[in-house]
This record gives sequence, C-alpha cells and structure tokens, in this order.
Amino acid sequence: MSDILERTLAGLRSALAVTPDNGPLRLQVAQILAELGRHNEAVEAARASLPHLDGEEAQQAQALVERLAPEPEPEEELAALADLDAVRRGGLVALKGGSEETELLALEPNRQTVDFSDVGGLDALKETIRMKIVLPFQQPEVFQKYGKSRGGGILLYGPPGCGKTLLARATAGEVGATFLNVAIDQVLDMWFGQSEAKLAALFEEARRLAPAVLFFDEVEAIGANRQQIRHGPGRTLVNQLLAEMDGVDSANDRVLVMAATNSPWHVDSALLRPGRFDRVVFVPPPDEVARSEILRLQLRERPVQDGIDLRPIVARTDGMSGADLADLVERSVEAPLREALRTGTARDLTAADLQGALGTTRPSTAGWFETARNYAQFANADNLYDDLVAYMDAANKRSGGKRRWWSFRD
Ligand SMILES: Nc1ncnc2c1ncn2[C@@H]1O[C@H](COP(=O)(O)OP(=O)(O)O)[C@@H](O)[C@H]1O
Ligand SMILES: [Mg+2]
Repeated sequence: MSDILERTLAGLRSALAVTPDNGPLRLQVAQILAELGRHNEAVEAARASLPHLDGEEAQQAQALVERLAPEPEPEEELAALADLDAVRRGGLVALKGGSEETELLALEPNRQTVDFSDVGGLDALKETIRMKIVLPFQQPEVFQKYGKSRGGGILLYGPPGCGKTLLARATAGEVGATFLNVAIDQVLDMWFGQSEAKLAALFEEARRLAPAVLFFDEVEAIGANRQQIRHGPGRTLVNQLLAEMDGVDSANDRVLVMAATNSPWHVDSALLRPGRFDRVVFVPPPDEVARSEILRLQLRERPVQDGIDLRPIVARTDGMSGADLADLVERSVEAPLREALRTGTARDLTAADLQGALGTTRPSTAGWFETARNYAQFANADNLYDDLVAYMDAANKRSGGKRRWWSFRD
C-alpha cells in the first residue's frame, strides 16, 4: 500500500515541479505525506498549498495543518505571544522565562559583590548616596516616620567612563540589594504598548527580587522614543516610567530607582521634576587622589614591582576617566606579557611599563566638557547643572587663568 502511495507521491511531485502554484496538487501531496506518517513534511506541504487555495480546499489544508502541526516549543509560543497583541501579555511573557524579554530582566539580577570600596574617589558623592539613599533604605522606619517613604530616584550624569554605572552597582552592593541593569534600548519595542508592558514587568521583577536597585542606563534614550510619538496620543514611555516610579514606595517595596546618562540635556524634562529623578548629580572625572586610587584598584590583581612610585604617572593622567586608566593599565601589561611569552619568565610590571603606556593613552573627557559647557552656560535655568558649573569654575581657577578646554572665558 505505502508503495503505491510513494509512487503516486513521486509522480505528483514531478508534476509540481512544473506547476509549482498548483494548490490542489500540493494539498494532495500533503494528504499523502500525512497518510505515510510523515507529519512534518505534510504540514509543510499543506502550508505551502494555502496561498494557492480557497474555499473548501483551503479549509482542508488548514485543518490538516492544525491536526498535525507539532505543539509549539515553549519558546516559540512565547515569541508568538510577544509578536501578537502584546500590550497585556508582554508583561506576562517577560516574567515567564525563556523569551528575549526574560533576558532583559535577567540582565544582571545578582547580589552585588562590588561596593563603595571598589569605586575610586567620588567621596562627596558616596557620602550623598549614603545619607540620602543607603541609610533610609536600611532603616525604612525612620524614613517612613518623616513621611519620606515615596520613591523618587537619583540621576547620575557626567563624561563617559567616570564610574556612573560602577557607582550604581556599588550602591546596590552597599545595601546588599539585587542590581537590575536596564539599557533603555532593550525596553524599547517596535510593537505598540510592548515597551510599556516591559517596563511594568521590570518594576514588578524588581519588587519580586527586592531589595533591589533598578538602574536605567542611558536614560536619555527614553525620551527619544520616536515610535511612541508616532503612535500619537497613547501614553508615552516617559509617562509610563513616571507612573511606575510614582507607584514605588521605596520603604515598602525596597526598590531604589537610579539612572545614568552622558547627556542629561537630552533627558526628558518630565523625568526631572520633584518626586522623579529629583536628585541630579554630577559624576566628575577623577581628581589626582582619585586617579591614584583607581590606578591602585586596577593594579590590584596584577604582579606589580614592589615600591613602585605612582605619583609621576598619576600626574600625567589629568583629564583621564576611570575607564581611560583601566585602559592604561591594560596597555602597560602588553610589553611584559610579550617578553614573558618570548623568554618564558614573567617579570613584574614596572613604572617604565606604565610610562610607556601613557604615550598611547589619550584622556577622553575633554570632548564631553566641550559639549557640556554650552548647556551649563545656556541651559541651566533650573540650576540643574550647578555642580557641573562649580566643577568647571574650580578647574579654571586651578589652572591659574591658563585657557583650558572648559574655559568659560573665550
Ligand atoms: N571611580 C572609579 N573607580 C574605579 N574604577 C572606575 C571608576 N570610574 C571608572 N572606572 C573603571 O572604568 C570602567 C567604566 O566605568 P563606568 O562606571 O562604566 O563609567 P560610566 O558609566 O560613567 O560610563 C569601570 O568598570 C571601571 O573599571
Ligand atoms: Mg555607564
């Protein structure tokens, strides 16, 4: 019997080769494949026949697909959910597991091993965070007593590579909280309503994992969500974030909201009003003491010659960010590493290695200040950039009137 079927199948297939758009023929192929127990191929053939069929035959093809199509893998099912009408289900999908959205949530939901001792410099800022965030978070009763239970968040801004992300992570470490690192572009979704659902799911997840620090990196991107704007009067993602933040009772929920940006002037101003990211804090490039600390931190895990004097090196790193310093150390080990590979013996890192790397490491913060000073000068109506202005003024004074890249007097 199956012999005959096989032969018929072969015949139909060669016919199809010349008339590929013949729907009824395809359907017949599908039915024979089904009869032969070759279900996957049958489903494939029935699907291929659908565009070329209508009426009863189309229904037959559809029925065959439905009868024989394998149960979707959980992951596919979730993906399908995410594609369709995701407004409501998005949140669910995000929490269920296995989907892209879960990865978003699983970005870094871990207890932090990094704390303030891993952050070089920034002493005043650490103190601010301790007083305004860490202590109230650790003693919610005191917080509540003074009626300060509602959320609000802290926004860190400054040149790239100066420790904003590190500081947020370290804040989580200080309070023994889970750190959820969210990149806005991963929240953004082309599907209407899906971004909002993801955001809601994130806050939900943060509550579930509490105590938690929910950190929005590159938060300026949230206002630049053109898709939302195109969708007209619907609630924007900015509004959704505001609503979610309003819904956080930091004392009860034990969720802290933090954010960072390199371009605060692009952050939607609605996010900066009282009760929102109302503490806007400048994270400056490391000063001499901080640079020395950061260098030490970066050298911690490397074999370094005893008694090495870092001062002359630190003196040559003005304008470098913490990331630049990390880069400097990375470059400085290249020479001894090459030597070790060649000679078979590993020697310690020397001051000369670091000096050598200085020649190829450029301070990266100057460009940022070029841009920032315009905003600090002309867009500081809300005194948002006061600490930036103070920083630039002080730097000017220190330079003794020499014209610097952040000079206001040119
Ligand atoms: N203050 C600092 N102390 C120690 N390391 C720092 C500091 N600032 C930057 N770094 C180093 O540079 C890297 C990048 O810093 P990051 O926090 O991502 O900067 P930002 O978020 O401001 O762009 C860090 O992972 C760390 O290795
Ligand atoms: Mg960062």
